[in-house]
Amino acid sequence: MKARDKNRVIIFDTTLRDGEQCPGASMRLGEKIQIARQLERLKVDVIEAGFPIASPGDFEAVKTIAEQSKGPRIAGLARCLKKDIERCAEAVMPAGNRARIHAFLATSAIHREFKLKKAKNEILRQAVEHVKYARSFVDDVQFSPEDASRTEPEFLAEITRAVIDAGATTINIPDTVGYAIPSEFGRLIGYLFEHVPNIGQAIVHVHCHNDLGLAVANSLAAVQNGARGVECTINGLGERAGNCSLEEIAMAIRLRKDELGVTTGIQTKEIFRASRMVSQLTGMMIQRNKAVVGANAFAHESGIHQDGMLKERSTYEIMSPQDVGIPESELVLGKHSGRHAFRVHMNKMGFKLTDAENELAYNRFIELADKKKAVYDDDLIAIVQDMLQDVPSAYTLQYLHVSAGSDTVATATVQLQKGEETLQDAACGDGPVDAALKTMDRMTGVQGTLLDYALHAITRGKDAMAEATVSVRFAGETVPGKGSSTDVVEASAKAYLNALNRHLVNRGMAARKKPAKRKPRKKA
Ligand code: KIV
Ligand code: ZN
Repeated sequence: MKARDKNRVIIFDTTLRDGEQCPGASMRLGEKIQIARQLERLKVDVIEAGFPIASPGDFEAVKTIAEQSKGPRIAGLARCLKKDIERCAEAVMPAGNRARIHAFLATSAIHREFKLKKAKNEILRQAVEHVKYARSFVDDVQFSPEDASRTEPEFLAEITRAVIDAGATTINIPDTVGYAIPSEFGRLIGYLFEHVPNIGQAIVHVHCHNDLGLAVANSLAAVQNGARGVECTINGLGERAGNCSLEEIAMAIRLRKDELGVTTGIQTKEIFRASRMVSQLTGMMIQRNKAVVGANAFAHESGIHQDGMLKERSTYEIMSPQDVGIPESELVLGKHSGRHAFRVHMNKMGFKLTDAENELAYNRFIELADKKKAVYDDDLIAIVQDMLQDVPSAYTLQYLHVSAGSDTVATATVQLQKGEETLQDAACGDGPVDAALKTMDRMTGVQGTLLDYALHAITRGKDAMAEATVSVRFAGETVPGKGSSTDVVEASAKAYLNALNRHLVNRGMAARKKPAKRKPRKKA
């Protein structure tokens, strides 16, 4: 067996698990598969694809990614419970010797007393028993003492030693609530290296949340104290304020090798594409001044800076846009591009489409190229995203006409397709979007309350594609929806209809299901 390079930091990506727990960022199966493919191109070492027992959708996603992925290890999350570990094992098994079970159990006093109501010795026993059980399915078992940074260091060392003896091959130290500060978190990792005699038999990872904006700094401090795995997400997506951002940690390690003395295997030129893909597929926008991938990350505004840049780029830039894969020009295809060129370009972008999907995407691309002068990569991602919603659509939008202005009552005429049936109606509203949504409510007979509505331009230019993201409450259920178009009212109507279709699917499933047992809450 090849010896591990002791200076290589493992990048464990949890965009599809912890990242998906970011409110409003839930993804459908097709979207997760595309992101997993891009993570492969990015050359992450481990993909945490989901929490298999949390829902049938999570199980399916982990299993499908385990079946289809090639390079990275595929991990699934499990509580220290037999049923979780069995379900997780079933989901990750298709990855063969790349399958990992990630078991977690809280260890801090606050969680022991209030959440688990268990004493230290019971926690220790439960962790050891379930790590052993997980090892009966796979050779690669990770254990996370949840809320490790608020756990008594002596107990953390004790449980770490015990689970390594029980067969854990990776120990992940989470700062679950983002409470730690770098000096202290680095010290904690150093403490474990000093006080856990068998620590050399496992790899130490860290998993930092960003509640104080310190997730990357804490992860770096841990690396400086011996950790050799960092858990992170694209764009720092994640529960609450998110997780350590993959692009920031990877670039920090790459640029500051002089100080840190470690490397990762990340193909940094794939960072920008991964960032855009995740942003678009989740509807979570990237703030303009976000490090590494924000729109302003390489923009120089002041005259002094611009002058310096013209004389010597490194005066004001520590990395170049090309290092992270920001293309010189994103203009990709024109309306005369053929199917083959389209497919080759989609492959280059990381999308592997079936013949039928390629045909559908190509036709939508031609329609778009007819409407707008320039089609950018982001437009193509939006087209694929629209196609990948994989929500069986009870209703599809056939036609929308609105009439609105400052001195007229806004009215909308909408035509929807429902199976073989074509429905048509018109209604007035307080502005064109309101009129369109009211018309659809009337036609479908399902009343929705718009809780959240955001519109943003996917690409630049006055003819840019707009993406609408909505959150709608239908009969007590809150569902997200997304839609894109060069027309903002149409994008809004599509997003609303997408939410309605999701609601109808959920309601249909609920009607068929046996009374549900309580599902575990998804983890931070
Ligand atoms: O934040 C956390 O503690 C987690 C663990 C499951 C690793 O997400
Ligand atoms: Zn977490």
